[in-house]
Amino acid sequence: MKINVLYSNIFLDDLYFTGKTVVVIDVLRATSVIVTAIANGAREIIPVSTLDFAMKVSGDAFRSQTLLCGERNTKMVEGFNLGNSPSEYTSEVVSGKSIILYTTNGSKSIVKAKFAENLFIASFLNLKVVVKHLKKLKKDVDIVCAGTNGFFNMEDSICAGTIVSELKNEIDNLTLSDSAAASVTLSKFTARSIPNMLHKTEHGKLLIENGFKADVEDCAILDKYNVIPYYVSGVLKKL
Ligand code: MLT
Repeated sequence: MKINVLYSNIFLDDLYFTGKTVVVIDVLRATSVIVTAIANGAREIIPVSTLDFAMKVSGDAFRSQTLLCGERNTKMVEGFNLGNSPSEYTSEVVSGKSIILYTTNGSKSIVKAKFAENLFIASFLNLKVVVKHLKKLKKDVDIVCAGTNGFFNMEDSICAGTIVSELKNEIDNLTLSDSAAASVTLSKFTARSIPNMLHKTEHGKLLIENGFKADVEDCAILDKYNVIPYYVSGVLKKL
């Protein structure tokens, strides 16, 4: 079994993912929101890569059962039902609902990996259950860090490194690409306190400046949930 980490997917063609097993991470905040929504009973999440498409899909949708959600420049988009804070996705709000999700980096990274054979969503909130599932699946894995505007970010890379590190402890013949090995090194130095690390990242600081300090803390909780969102036919559902 081989594991690779992509710190950005901007230079990759969508076809790169064909037939692969892929894990997408956007710790702050898209994949933390997706895990929270699915854990709280959302029926499905439809990730979209453009605002226009979000509007179009929601126009076609059965309105009372559908929520239009996400952010632009960290803030809720005008006319949307919810922003991109995990605390908004309570079971009272999302249970049984279809969620159309547009975000700056996370939803786009998921759409980009749409040709994967298996596509899972990870964050610190569901890290252990993802590791357990990958171990059982025994397939080569590409972990995609959504990053920030096409560039490396610390929080996704450290979350990826923590996954690789846990797999390495459990699987004897695991082969690491150079980028996967680098992510493990990174995670060792900085992941002792996840909240502390998240507060110091560029996006963590931006979220705090914009009034979302509680979100940074909510996204830092390790293994809060036991669910894996899984992408099939354009939607994310509970595996
Ligand atoms: C993204 O997709 O870029 C993020 O989730 C941004 C955010 O929520 O602040």
